[in-house]
Amino acid sequence: MPRFYVTTPIYYVNDVPHVGHAYATVNADALARWHRLLGDDVFFLTGTDEHGVKVAQSAEEHGSDPPAWTERTSGRFVDAWKALEVSNDDFIRTSEPRHHRAVQAFLQRIYDNGFIETGTYSGWYCVGCEAYKDESELLEGHVCAEHHRPAQWLEEENYFFKLSAFQDRLVEWYESNPEAVRPEGKRNEALAFIKGGLHDISITRTSTRWGVEVPWDPAHVFYVWYDALVNYITAIGFGEDEARFEGWWPAVHHLIGKEILRFHCVWWPAMCMAAGIEPPAHVFVHGWLLVGGSRLSKTRIRQAAEAAEAAVGPAGDAGEGGGKPVKLTEITPAALTDDFGVDAIRYHLLRDTPLGTDGEFSYEGITARYNADLANNLGNLVSRVATVVGSKCGGVGPAPDAASRLGPESAAVVARAVAAWDRLAPHEALEATWHLIRETNAELEATEPWKADPGPVVDGVLGSALEALRIVAVLASPAMPGVCGEIWRRLGLPGRPDEVVVPEALAWGGYPGGMPVEKGAPLFPRRRA
Ligand code: ME8
Ligand code: MG
Repeated sequence: MPRFYVTTPIYYVNDVPHVGHAYATVNADALARWHRLLGDDVFFLTGTDEHGVKVAQSAEEHGSDPPAWTERTSGRFVDAWKALEVSNDDFIRTSEPRHHRAVQAFLQRIYDNGFIETGTYSGWYCVGCEAYKDESELLEGHVCAEHHRPAQWLEEENYFFKLSAFQDRLVEWYESNPEAVRPEGKRNEALAFIKGGLHDISITRTSTRWGVEVPWDPAHVFYVWYDALVNYITAIGFGEDEARFEGWWPAVHHLIGKEILRFHCVWWPAMCMAAGIEPPAHVFVHGWLLVGGSRLSKTRIRQAAEAAEAAVGPAGDAGEGGGKPVKLTEITPAALTDDFGVDAIRYHLLRDTPLGTDGEFSYEGITARYNADLANNLGNLVSRVATVVGSKCGGVGPAPDAASRLGPESAAVVARAVAAWDRLAPHEALEATWHLIRETNAELEATEPWKADPGPVVDGVLGSALEALRIVAVLASPAMPGVCGEIWRRLGLPGRPDEVVVPEALAWGGYPGGMPVEKGAPLFPRRRA
């Protein structure tokens, strides 16, 4: 059985999950669901990144300690993904003992292989970024450009990973694996960075105890990024279950945002090489959701919240650079799903921002997409078909017409959707699927079965519309598992649309006919723009 291993980044636990995290996680979820439909053995991993100075400080600021604090904040991600119907097979927390063991085993191997050495490190460190910064990257007064907080001068006697030793091997790896990083522009970016010369990296800290202890020198803990990347192999049994590990590695699909490209496309493959395992086979780099041109990040949300607080007063001029502050209630996944429903938000995230490019996130954008695709197209088709089956066929769904023009239309849509999912292009797969919905609505408008007398012609038209809906319910189920399950049920079909195997189940003619069709309430009541 083919296997499909897909991961999201593990999210920092400091703040609340926001719609940018939801974008990454829902895309990974849809891919996992699609591969389950294909009959693949799927492992879908997400989780939380819990170590480091930033988290320890945050725990303290909240009058808590790191274990209790991360337990709580990690739970917010667990809850958010449950609410979004995310079907992850595992949820990894880096504070778990299994992860500590894997990190220690992995880094001990790198140490034994001679790629870790001691050295003194000094430099400007930004706690927000959890990274040392070059002088050139900082603003006046050594202020971090991303966090608008001063970086600190740190001097540490640390262990260093000899990243510089991997420059040639990394170049060779990327040249012989042209598809290892996609889209291609991101692969070129990684390659250019590698060719520009690599410095060794300080990978341990003595400035905090909140981390994974260095096995050969317990006064140190590993640098948070160095521990975090290992999560991808912890969860598949690295160091504990070699057979399981080898069953999943290296054929992984890492889905990551573009700001963490260097960690995943330079450091991580080099770390794997140093430990004597294959680098990850696929890294797919996605863009950012932006609000008014600005990245929606935790820092940005915090600034917005602070700005909103500061604005309590008559002036109310809280925007930065004249822009309106982002309201927290508009950007948590829960606020959006309470408003539009889980399926609509998932659909919007998958349909409107192609993986690989940035996308504008706005309330107006969600509403427009909702009305066009969900209320007017899908919702309308489901309700008009059920209504006419009620009035012309006594509520019993007829079998499809084998010669309907929707048959070849559907076959073409299925082929396009299958190819698009395979290219990690959910937006195109859904666009193709909606083509079939529009064609089915057009066919009904052309034949007007609601005006005709009951009989074989009307039966054929309605049976074909039901069959198109059956196919749509399967094709759209990775995006909208809940609503597609409901459509399936209303069509009178047994089981669930995500229990079938594609592409076999998508052949024209699968709707058997003779099933009770239920009318039900509108799936997507139209919203005011
Ligand atoms: O970087 N638009 O965690 P993180 C789209 N812990 N996606 C966004 C986004 C936005 N505006 N904002 C965030 C970390 N993301 C590390 C990762 S992995 C070993 C360690 C998504 O909490 C995007 O996928 O900052 C990005 O890469 C991820 O959240 C970063 O989450
Ligand atoms: Mg980040």
